[in-house]
Amino acid sequence: MNILLIGSGGREHALAWKIAQSPLLTRLVAAPGSPGIAGLCETRPVKVTDVDGLVALAKDIAADLVVVGPEAALEVGIADRLAEAGIPCFGPTASAARLETSKAFTKDFCARHALPTADYGVFETADAAAAFLDTQTAPYVIKADGLAAGKGVVIAQTRAEADAAVADMLGGRFGSAGARVVIEEFMHGEEASFFALCDGETAIPFGYAQDHKRAYDGDEGPNTGGMGTYSPAPVLTPALAERAFREAVLPAVQGMAAEGNPYRGVLYAGLMLTATGPRLVEFNARFGDPECQVLMLRLAGDIVPYLKAAAEGGLASLPAPGWKDESAVCVVYAAEGYPDAPKSGAAIAGAEADFGPDTVVFHAGTARDGDGTLRASGGRVLNVCALGADLREARDRAYAAIETIDFPGGFYRGDIGWRAL
Ligand code: AMP
Ligand code: GLY
Repeated sequence: MNILLIGSGGREHALAWKIAQSPLLTRLVAAPGSPGIAGLCETRPVKVTDVDGLVALAKDIAADLVVVGPEAALEVGIADRLAEAGIPCFGPTASAARLETSKAFTKDFCARHALPTADYGVFETADAAAAFLDTQTAPYVIKADGLAAGKGVVIAQTRAEADAAVADMLGGRFGSAGARVVIEEFMHGEEASFFALCDGETAIPFGYAQDHKRAYDGDEGPNTGGMGTYSPAPVLTPALAERAFREAVLPAVQGMAAEGNPYRGVLYAGLMLTATGPRLVEFNARFGDPECQVLMLRLAGDIVPYLKAAAEGGLASLPAPGWKDESAVCVVYAAEGYPDAPKSGAAIAGAEADFGPDTVVFHAGTARDGDGTLRASGGRVLNVCALGADLREARDRAYAAIETIDFPGGFYRGDIGWRAL
């Protein structure tokens, strides 16, 4: 098979690493890819939002399958355009991707299908938002409706902060993404990331992990896209995972199909494990980053039949995917200033060493100079990942590797996995 992979982050490097091991693969091309991905396959400099360029590239390489990494490509309709061209796509249409790209759509969808999630209201004016806030108690959860690069959620401890967040969003801080605000009931519990593959009709569980979203040790500091992950996450017991799938994920995929909006690709359910069971914090229309990295390390066997069946149909006829008994940990090495103002350009040494069979370093935000020097070029720069017999061994291996990498100004959390250890 010829496969086109879209994206350039650590998630896509992990997908490329796994896809490249498939005996079904003839040719893998990534767009735009990264220095890390370029070590595994061909790359082409086409942007993830350049739909015309990507469709042309897919045709040019006679792609049998296109695998979409980031939501940005989904939002601009890459799956719709590939469908018109008759090319199977792992990833939902722009309309189905609203499960990620519109929080208002998703909250209304959850209400229509009685999916377990926080109570909410959607507002376009400060007065209407204030009237709803009058009925709630602190902490208040305020969200911009659209995509806001992970920054569109405010957990306000006081009413004054809540009003300020509403004013800020409706005032245009996130552009049109903040034209509507969603205000939610605050849910108490531990968070977990649950993944399912979907083929438009049905879904199968595809692993789970826990992420650390805050920038600094002890879950302090600003919210980020994720500073580290581990899988399995013991807090999501098999019974809870089964319940999340049955109560929140499968009915969502069936509901999308029933509404004439079939969902294909991976559905990422962000769960809050509350006293009354798993409840949805959000859906995403893509793999988590860096959750995908630990899932790829733990996935036993070939991923390509699963990606192909999600794109083309027939997931129900595949055997359940196998997972290694081992644990996997991913530690994010981020650039100074991440997440607000990451500093680019630092020269990185030692990231491409041979770390042995259980450790893999994925590139999340790197660029290579003409002279071959690897440089930081993004907020999250490297994902240092390892497998181990248990979480402790995986974590020790990941930290042993990260300590050998020279990245001036880079920082990482020293406590990935603490909740489970
Ligand atoms: P989101 O971008 O929707 O994932 O929200 C970012 C983070 O805010 C989540 O990972 C949670 O930690 C927190 N959060 C969002 N919604 C709620 C809620 N209704 N109750 C409690 N925490 C929430
Ligand atoms: N790691 C969280 C996310 O991908 O949204």
